[in-house]
Amino acid sequence: MRPPGYPSSPVGFVLGVDLLHIFPVEGATFLCPADVTDPRTSQRILEVLPGGRADVILSDMAPNATGFRDLDHDRLISLCLTLLSMTPDILQPRGTFLCKTWAGSQSHRLQRRLTEEFQNVRIIKPEASRKESSEVYFLATQYQGRKGAVKQ
Ligand SMILES: C[S@@+](CC[C@H](N)C(=O)[O-])C[C@H]1O[C@@H](n2cnc3c(N)ncnc32)[C@H](O)[C@@H]1O
Ligand SMILES: *[C@@H]1O[C@H](CO)[C@@H](O)[C@H](O)[C@H]1NC(C)=O
Repeated sequence: MRPPGYPSSPVGFVLGVDLLHIFPVEGATFLCPADVTDPRTSQRILEVLPGGRADVILSDMAPNATGFRDLDHDRLISLCLTLLSMTPDILQPRGTFLCKTWAGSQSHRLQRRLTEEFQNVRIIKPEASRKESSEVYFLATQYQGRKGAVKQ
């Protein structure tokens, strides 16, 4: 049910990006196949986004798991760092960045980078995420850019 005061029709623009072909979802636009590690992808995103910037970047990207926990963890942290490196081009000042990680030894690197660029960084484990899964989310809000480099 819709909470009181919630708009009766959808507002905003949702753009999905994936390496794989994604089955169409009503109300969303997709760029796929597209690889976020390809430098051309942020340009393509900019071309599609109305207004040229996103209010929220939300990622549940993951590499194909090899089963080697440390390797999978390192790869996912790298992927999140790559996505984070796109924020100066595509994220609105004061914007939000949410990404999925698998817990491990390199999480502090991502956390440190997020803390440099966002006013508020939280680590969250939503109820919908299975307890036995190592899945952990980083929620960063109030984007400021590197050392406040983004024009407000
Ligand atoms: C856990 S699945 C989530 C898929 C989708 N968001 C969903 O909920 O069904 C992780 C997705 O990350 C995508 N992915 C992994 N590496 C990527 C990359 N470098 N660029 C774009 N997508 C990537 C995979 O293709 C895969 O579909
Ligand atoms: C995962 O494997 C599938 C099937 O081989 C492939 O199409 C896809 O690109 C792979 N995803 C990643 C992130 O490497």
